[in-house]
Amino acid sequence: MSSRIPGFYKLSPAKRLDKIAEHIELGEEEKDILRGNGGFSVNQADQMIENVIGYLPIPLGIAANFKVNGKDVFIPMATEEPSVVAAASHAAKLAYESGGFITSYTGSIMIGQIQVTDVEDPYGAMARVHENKEEIIKLCNKQDPTLVSLGGGMKDIHVRIVPTNSEEMILIHLLVDTRDAMGANAVNTMAEAVTPLIEKITQGSVVLRILSNLADERITRARAIFENPFEGDKVAMDKFYKAAQLAIYDPYRATTHNKGIMNGISAVVTATGNDTRAVEAGVHAYASKSGQYRSLTRWEIGKDNKIIGTIELPLAVGMVGGATQSHPVAKLATKIMGVQSAEQLAGVIASVGLAQNFAAIRALASEGIQQGHMKLHARNLAVLAGAKEDQIDEVVNIAAKHESYQFHEMEKIVKSLNTNRKR
Ligand code: MEV
Repeated sequence: MSSRIPGFYKLSPAKRLDKIAEHIELGEEEKDILRGNGGFSVNQADQMIENVIGYLPIPLGIAANFKVNGKDVFIPMATEEPSVVAAASHAAKLAYESGGFITSYTGSIMIGQIQVTDVEDPYGAMARVHENKEEIIKLCNKQDPTLVSLGGGMKDIHVRIVPTNSEEMILIHLLVDTRDAMGANAVNTMAEAVTPLIEKITQGSVVLRILSNLADERITRARAIFENPFEGDKVAMDKFYKAAQLAIYDPYRATTHNKGIMNGISAVVTATGNDTRAVEAGVHAYASKSGQYRSLTRWEIGKDNKIIGTIELPLAVGMVGGATQSHPVAKLATKIMGVQSAEQLAGVIASVGLAQNFAAIRALASEGIQQGHMKLHARNLAVLAGAKEDQIDEVVNIAAKHESYQFHEMEKIVKSLNTNRKR
């Protein structure tokens, strides 16, 4: 299976779906779900959240040209933002020939926090928690025999003293291997169940027992080589490098730089029914781990004008639990990607983030993003300017000839087309 389909972007949505279905072997029913026919109902929505009155469809696009760990992969991305899917696909194409993206994963370890207050002897209590570690682990693992049977479950404990304004609190971290689940439910259940035992051991009073979204024990890394992407243009390469460097040292730039990375990451997280807020909170906190908010990526210039990119971030995403299985489109999204585990899914997501970042810096450090962005946005603007479905292409083509995608230009074009029609 090749993720490179020449002219994929020029096809109609129906033809694109046919192409993907050829590669992935999607049945008619599955294709219908992706087309939005019967994929998701208000009744299903009503099972998921409260006070439902409807649902919000978001465009689902496919990023092409990705090779991740030697395997070609189509990546479903759910986003309302123009240019994101095109940019990721374009960058992936530039990395394809040199092997695509290579990823690594530290494992699916999530952290559950237990806050213990009113402890008479914080250091003594901390020692007692360590002494009773095996009993704590045993009780936690009793809560989830399925997870344990899959090789997961609670693995270790970290204990710290946190000095606050009022007292020295004890913070216990339960380190739980959640395997292919994001794991919030498993961790929270364990943290709540073990509370009476913790209070007995510490002789303190437990307040919070909840997952930490700073999933820094669940790190994904991706790496890619872009062979001579500036075709030997040293000035362009230097500008790319300087733009990337700024995001390491200036938090204002780093925020926008990482926002661009999250354009890709959140789109895949959404498409697969995972928790975007959990991933976003974790990623941004991780970007501050040095004490200053910095870029999630690093870019280096290698021999023969190679550009080497790396990304490192916590990705708490799963293949089971939550909406990943219950939402029919999310389920198909993982099928299209062909990923079998949380590790593979996280690897694909990190690769998209790296590709997205390459595309953004490349455009920003050269022609800027507005021209390409406006071209893609032009169809939306044409509709807003009043173009009927059969006029959209014509309006956009005329605007391109006028080299302006401004809204007032679109309005003028639509008006003149409508006047000509009436004549
Ligand atoms: C826009 O959604 C994202 C960018 O601003 C990212 C960046 O500046 O790197 C283009």
